[in-house]
Amino acid sequence: MSTDLETLGREARQGLAAAADERALEAWRTATLGRSGTLTSVLRSLGGLAPEERRAVGAAANVLRDELEAAFEVRRDVLRSASLAASVAAGAVDVTLPGRPQPRGGLHPVTLTLREILAAFTRMGFDTVEGPEVELDEYNFERLRIPADHPARDMWDTFWLSEPVPKAKRLARGIAAGMGLNVPAPERSSMLLRTHTSPMQVRYMETHEPPIRIAVPGRCYRYEATDATHEWMLTQVELLVVDEGVGMADLKGTLQEFARQLFGPQTRVLMRNSYFPFVEPGVELAVSCFSCPGDDPSCSVCRGSGWLEVMGAGMVHPEILAAAGYDPERYTGFAAGMGVERVAMLKYGISDIRNFYANDLRFLSQF
Ligand code: FA5
Repeated sequence: MSTDLETLGREARQGLAAAADERALEAWRTATLGRSGTLTSVLRSLGGLAPEERRAVGAAANVLRDELEAAFEVRRDVLRSASLAASVAAGAVDVTLPGRPQPRGGLHPVTLTLREILAAFTRMGFDTVEGPEVELDEYNFERLRIPADHPARDMWDTFWLSEPVPKAKRLARGIAAGMGLNVPAPERSSMLLRTHTSPMQVRYMETHEPPIRIAVPGRCYRYEATDATHEWMLTQVELLVVDEGVGMADLKGTLQEFARQLFGPQTRVLMRNSYFPFVEPGVELAVSCFSCPGDDPSCSVCRGSGWLEVMGAGMVHPEILAAAGYDPERYTGFAAGMGVERVAMLKYGISDIRNFYANDLRFLSQF
């Protein structure tokens, strides 16, 4: 058996040296080291030998396999280099050609703006927290003082999620319909895609005690007819500050500092009164239009008003503080919710919000 192994080794070495190209090399590998190759057959037949002989032949066969495998790799490298050199010499490969450029990705302008906004508030001492995009009616509306019949629901209509209807109920409805009976419309689901980040005000106050200073970034959804400044999916950053002695001056100072950091000291900021059921008083913050001098009625950004609204804000309603278990005589707070796409439009001078999610690389690769 050991002479067999010696012969096998000698012939294999000769075969390897004779393999003149990669194809011949592969054929050699299959015939020698492959599943039914000569050396593999020797290893397979060990079981039929006496124990003493099995040990000796097995060890020698393993040494030979390691040697041949290493020799195979060396021979393959030699043949590959030779074949590449031959192609270069024959002019088949032009090594002077420039390399193929690797396209580089970048961050989306809304992500860039969101990071800048959060960095500004972090510098002002805010923590960043996130909340669910699929929200309950209770948090999105009810507990923000927007009951089912409130007119504010019209401007915040959204996408409702259907909840699984129990099988028995489905069957009963089907039978009733089959019998020609009047089947009442299914009840409205209590789950929706949140219309704003304000539900996190309630969720956070539920589980934390003042002092509170948080920024809440996240996606929101609205059943909205889109135009140059309205999308059906938008990104907001909510702010909530609750402590003793927090007043309108703190709200105004915080928002002015935010505008200064994001848009520079020359930016003009307008605060005018507004209404949101969960704040009292409520305001709206607008930033001077970048697209027209402020008097062009055909301007798609400001429609001639000179201002682009970027956020709603106000003092947290005392009923909401009380519902969270805080004493509204002791604690006061302010809240704000800004549209990140609107801020990005102002920063980069983008006149149509629909560019952000149209996935056009000509637009996206500019940032
Ligand atoms: C709200 O969403 C309130 N939750 C804001 C708030 C928070 C008020 C805390 C008081 C206290 P409003 O619907 O106005 O408010 O939206 C806030 C901002 O989101 C707007 O100023 C605007 O910048 C942006 N926004 C609203 N709707 C859209 C839309 N369809 N597309 C793009 N941005 C929008």
